[in-house]
Amino acid sequence: MARKFFVGGNFKMNGTLQSIKDIVENLNKAQLDSNTETVIAPPALYLLQVRELLKKEIGVAAQNVYDKPNGAFTGEISVSQLKDSGVDWVILGHSERRTVLAESDETVASKTKYATENGVSVIWCCGESLEQREAGQTLAHIASQLAALKAQVSDWSRIVIAYEPIWAIGTGKVATTQQAQEVHAEIRQWLAKEVSQQVADDTRILYGGSVSEKNCKELSKEKDIDGFLVGGASLKPAFVDIINCKL
Ligand code: G3P
Repeated sequence: MARKFFVGGNFKMNGTLQSIKDIVENLNKAQLDSNTETVIAPPALYLLQVRELLKKEIGVAAQNVYDKPNGAFTGEISVSQLKDSGVDWVILGHSERRTVLAESDETVASKTKYATENGVSVIWCCGESLEQREAGQTLAHIASQLAALKAQVSDWSRIVIAYEPIWAIGTGKVATTQQAQEVHAEIRQWLAKEVSQQVADDTRILYGGSVSEKNCKELSKEKDIDGFLVGGASLKPAFVDIINCKL
């Protein structure tokens, strides 16, 4: 199965009713590469508005979800509520949630299992800190994050992996194409060895970390880079150029 190129826009905790409406209008009128799957992830408060206004060929993702059915979980959003609102995707395991909100590998894996088993696809993030990279621990760290995922998940068809080196997020310091390709290839090899060759061949592996309209083309040419998870640049009109980087 050929892997369809995928571009996600992670708005993080940014935007207003008006600015998000402007982004949606810009995407609606843009000519987008139909060979690229596009998904945007606004803050939870704006999911409904975005789903209502955005053209249907673009998907919508939440930035978090809980791993329990509806009930007494103040402040959380359920998988069934996402589905009820037309939200088919969720970002899980982002380093900002792992570090700032102390989500463990196990919590991320449990949420991923719950979402995928109940019909919501997951952009599952992993990546190393600068200290880990400098200590030569990049691959070991990512392998341990993947192992925690594997311990709970059996259906990989609803998972897209986003490799986001923490030192490249929001810093303007993008990984070189070689650095990104090297880790993507290792992730694919890990999948082949630990899960199956089929899952390794089919799973899309995105790069995230200071992706811009200037660097996306070169990164997209690497054989194991199947798309991007874009932060800051997804809030700008140039996001369209990133979506269309394969044209
Ligand atoms: O999830 C996307 C991300 O963390 C990268 O952010 O702003 O460096 O593109 P940014």
